[in-house]
Amino acid sequence: MYLQAGRFRLPFDLTPFGHIGCFPEQQPNWSWLESEVARVARTAVAEPRGLNLFAHTGGSTWAMSVAGAHVTHVDAAKPSVQAARRIAADNGLAAAPIRYLVEDAAKYVRRELNRRAEYDLVVLDPPSYGHGPRGNPWLIGRDLWPLIDNCLALLRDGRGCMLITGHGEQPDQRQIADYLRQQRGERPPRIELGRSSLVDRAGRRLDAGFFVRAVLT
Ligand SMILES: C[S@@+](CC[C@H](N)C(=O)[O-])C[C@H]1O[C@@H](n2cnc3c(N)ncnc32)[C@H](O)[C@@H]1O
Repeated sequence: MYLQAGRFRLPFDLTPFGHIGCFPEQQPNWSWLESEVARVARTAVAEPRGLNLFAHTGGSTWAMSVAGAHVTHVDAAKPSVQAARRIAADNGLAAAPIRYLVEDAAKYVRRELNRRAEYDLVVLDPPSYGHGPRGNPWLIGRDLWPLIDNCLALLRDGRGCMLITGHGEQPDQRQIADYLRQQRGERPPRIELGRSSLVDRAGRRLDAGFFVRAVLT
């Protein structure tokens, strides 16, 4: 079975843990990313660079790629990254400019900063708890803030956009939006925030976490 998400599709199936193997509630965020790639290509660089951290099934990777960005796809779990390559091929993106990395997100971003790499779009969908490929723990309450700082520093000329999504209660979308405003000081981002949800045929809404979309100019 496939979820058709605009210009790409994602396979899904019930897992033994009751998950469906993709994140359909992210569709509005994927549409937003596609429009952001187009905006950056129009106003800044012809070939925007996107970084998808905690990328897993890669919805944000495909959204940025079909819109014309060069994308770096980072996840700590090797099987997820291998599956992502298959999803890319299934979408005709096997030869698209996408780098796949089995890496610790925070460590990778620090390394990119040292290499003076630059990105135009950064996506973070961190779990509350996780671990890097070599077992080092990820704790959202402790590790998100320095990661956001480093991601802000990776933005080309401090401009571009950032999408942060989350599934737990702490931190919530308001704390993250306040943090972004505080870190940017006199160059406050334009922020849109809210809850993601899934709606069934009867119109019932299932909450599926939050999103923070920030445009930095
Ligand atoms: C909530 S899922 C992300 C879902 C994804 N945005 C998507 O659309 O499929 C969290 C992912 O973070 C990864 N992860 C956990 N800790 C990590 C770390 N320290 N560095 C990189 N990835 C990590 C997990 O392997 C998992 O795939």
